[in-house]
This record gives sequence, C-alpha cells and structure tokens, in this order.
Amino acid sequence: MSRLAVLVPGGRGQVGSELARIVAARSGAMVHAPGSGELDITDHEAVADAVDSFAETARDADLRPVVVNASAYTAVDAAETDQERAALVNAEGPAQLAKACQRSGIPLLHVSTDYVFSGDADRPYEPADEPAPRTVYGRTKLDGERAVLDSGARAWVVRTAWVYGARGGNFVKTMARLSRERESLSVVGDQIGSPTWAADLAQGLLELAERVAERRGPDRKVLHCTNSGQVSWCDFARAIFAELGLDEARVQPCTTADFPRPAPRPAYSVLSDTAWREAGLTPMRPWREALRAAFETDGEVLRGEAG
Ligand SMILES: NC(=O)c1ccc[n+]([C@@H]2O[C@H](COP(=O)([O-])OP(=O)(O)OC[C@H]3O[C@@H](n4cnc5c(N)ncnc54)[C@H](OP(=O)(O)O)[C@@H]3O)[C@@H](O)[C@H]2O)c1
Repeated sequence: MSRLAVLVPGGRGQVGSELARIVAARSGAMVHAPGSGELDITDHEAVADAVDSFAETARDADLRPVVVNASAYTAVDAAETDQERAALVNAEGPAQLAKACQRSGIPLLHVSTDYVFSGDADRPYEPADEPAPRTVYGRTKLDGERAVLDSGARAWVVRTAWVYGARGGNFVKTMARLSRERESLSVVGDQIGSPTWAADLAQGLLELAERVAERRGPDRKVLHCTNSGQVSWCDFARAIFAELGLDEARVQPCTTADFPRPAPRPAYSVLSDTAWREAGLTPMRPWREALRAAFETDGEVLRGEAG
C-alpha cells in the first residue's frame, strides 16, 4: 500500500468522518478532514490555499496526496427553495476545488448521488446512463460532477445512495427514534434503492484513492459505489426494526403519493456496480449484511442510546 495523505473537505459529515477515521487508523497515512467551519468549500481562496499547502505538506513527508470531496449541501427538500446556496456548495465549490487540484497536480475523488438520475429505470443505473435529475439537489450535484470532470484534474466521480452511519442524522436513526415514539409506522414501499453504510463506502473510497494516487487507471471516470442488493424504504425500515429486536409488523407500507415532499424522490435509483467490479475494486457486501455490521459496530449510536 502506498503511503497516502488524504484531504477530506466535508470531513465532519457521515461519509467524511468515516473516511477520516479509517485513514487515521492506517499506519503511515495522514488525513486532514476539516468541517465547513474550518474549510468552506464556497470560499475559493481558502480552498486554493488549503489544497496547495496540503500538497506541499504531503510531499515534504513523502506521502501521495489525494483529495476526497465529501462536502455537499445535502438537505434535499430545503434545496428546492435555497437554489443559490445549493449551487454554490454542490457545483461551484467542487469546480474551484478541482481547479486547485489540477494546479497542484493532486487527484480528486468527488462523491455524488443517485439523485442525478430520474428514477424511471427498471434496471440498475450504469455510470454512463443519461442523467436526468428532478430536483435542485440532483441538478446541482450533476453540475458539480461535470465541473470536476471538465476541470483537467485527474478526477473520479463516485456516486452513492441511501447513506447512513454513526455521524449525523439519517434514516436508521430516525426509525430508531420513531420506534420509541409510535406504536406503528407508515413508510414508503414504492421507492427502491440500495442502503449504504458510510463505513463500507469509506473503505471503497480509500481503496480507490490508493489506486488513483498510484496513477493506476484512467485520468477520469465515473463509478457507482453502494452496498449491493435493493430494497424499498419500508422493507429497509423493517430490517432496522429487526436489528432493534422489535416486531417488523409495526412498519406498514404506504405510497409516495401518501407523503408528497417538496423534492420528488426517485422511484428506482439502484446503481449498478459493474464498472466498480470491472475496475478491479472490491465488491461491496449486501446491504442487509452491512446493516447488521453497522449495529454490531455502532449500535449504541444508531439506537440513539449514546450520550
Ligand atoms: N446521505 C445520503 O443519503 C447520500 C446519498 C447519496 C449521495 N450522498 C453524497 O455523499 C456525500 C457525503 O454526504 P453525507 O451523507 O456525508 O452528508 P452530510 O452528513 O450532510 O455531510 C456533508 C458535509 O458537507 C459539509 N458542508 C456543507 N456545506 C459546506 C461548505 N460550504 N463547505 C464545506 N463543507 C460543507 C457539512 O459540514 P459541517 O457539518 O461541518 O457543516 C457536512 O458535514 C455528498 O456528496 C452527498 O451528496 C449522500
């Protein structure tokens, strides 16, 4: 394994914090994972300075620098009425970050989303399928992908979906809370996707970062990385109830039409892992196994029992 130095803008989020944790645990590797308070992706000068000084520090320490952008405006409904901010964080920020990486000769991995697709498909989306986002969040993330890929930097876009982890709010924690507050729950049964444990995604990103840092593979590419398999939100909620030791029958399906949201969710947003596997990267485990592992590792936090 090459000795890596990883800069993770958005390092306090679900994905960024897991990546920071596993890189920090590797001997000889270095990680800097600033939150938005320390590095604001919309502050172009600060971004350029951070990338330049990170590149210098890494090279002085004989490490191979990589940037993994885990920052994003992820409030999908709020983005519908906060378009300017969403565009700044999801598109203009990554564009400037990529330019800084290009100038410093550092490769960039940029995390993106299943929401770049319409959700009309009846088979898993391939990276080359035509994006057709239906939300401000999806459109701004797609603009970010394109800016990164057009920047001239060595840039890889990694789309993921339905992320949950120990840090921050997510569906698993919400279900755990609602299981205490309500006797029965209605959860949408007609939206299908692939739940992804942030820790598994972080491992995948690290594996890819090592390759890219060693200049293995092409200069730019789009890949998909989720836990494997597919499920509806309702059946995902039932699996969470099972992990909590609760009766799954307390969760009943409803339809998307029963709960209209400001930002329409894709009906089907399963991402194919064919390109990931063809690139020789380790296949991701099934979502159900990952959920069990997440409860074994971070059960207290996911259940909402940790202080
Ligand atoms: N969550 C999902 O289900 C999901 C699904 C598909 C794709 N993704 C993608 O996965 C990536 C990581 O998402 P996540 O789940 O880890 O989201 P998250 O927990 O909301 O983390 C995003 C982080 O971005 C940071 N951020 C926001 N505005 C920023 C700014 N102006 N400058 C710097 N950082 C800023 C926030 O930092 P602070 O907390 O420090 O303010 C936050 O910690 C994103 O690209 C997202 O689009 C997520």
